[in-house]
Amino acid sequence: MHDGTSDYLAALFAPEDATLLALREEADRSGLPPISISPDEGRLLQVLLRAVGARRILEVGTLGGYSAIWMARALPPDGRLLTLEIEPKHAEFARRHIARAGVADRVEVRVGRALDLLPALDGEQFDAVFLDADKEPLPTYFDWALRLLRPGGVLIADNALWGGRVLDDRVDDDATRAVREFNRRLATDPRVTGIVVPTHDGVGIGIVVAGLPSAP
Ligand code: SAH
Ligand code: DHB
Ligand code: MG
Repeated sequence: MHDGTSDYLAALFAPEDATLLALREEADRSGLPPISISPDEGRLLQVLLRAVGARRILEVGTLGGYSAIWMARALPPDGRLLTLEIEPKHAEFARRHIARAGVADRVEVRVGRALDLLPALDGEQFDAVFLDADKEPLPTYFDWALRLLRPGGVLIADNALWGGRVLDDRVDDDATRAVREFNRRLATDPRVTGIVVPTHDGVGIGIVVAGLPSAP
């Protein structure tokens, strides 16, 4: 969106402090891809985390730690964020900036391929899961998120509009097909109440329905 809406909202609700500004500048200089979430999206994440009272958060796709810092700042002092990252260089950069942001006590960066790391989390419960890594496995990430989230928890996914490719019938690559399938599940799976908000590149949001009848 280039009508100034995002800039207006960011300036009012999501001004970046020196830590976040320095992170983005160093990320540019270090050649990290410029694909962090936007400030207004960071603020949206904080609102959602506070709405569900998040104390345990799982992120898939750390990059430089920008979104992790936004989310960690919405945690209570005893809250925890676990973030998964396949690139050791990204993880090292993120750990350094997470420490500078003063939230290292609340954040763990774990290195590996998400699909290899997720099975070790089976049996744990999270209040929020933020998906922001590779797009091809999104349907599988959706299954993992529903397995790991508590009833009333929130599933959030970046890039739900995928640069507009999800609505362009001429586009038919694996990543785009996976984002479409993810959105279809968010829209129709009875276990979540979902929507895509057109902030940044589209933010998929699903609240895990609480109070579905369980077996007696
Ligand atoms: N959430 C970050 C941006 C993430 S960019 C922020 O807003 O600041 C996507 C990240 O996912 C990249 O760092 C990439 O290395 C990582 N990634 C890609 N495929 C992955 C996989 N299979 N498992 C874990 N991380 C992956
Ligand atoms: C891209 C952008 C993202 O925000 C992301 O999480 C992964 C990839 C991209 O534009 O390629
Ligand atoms: Mg993204």
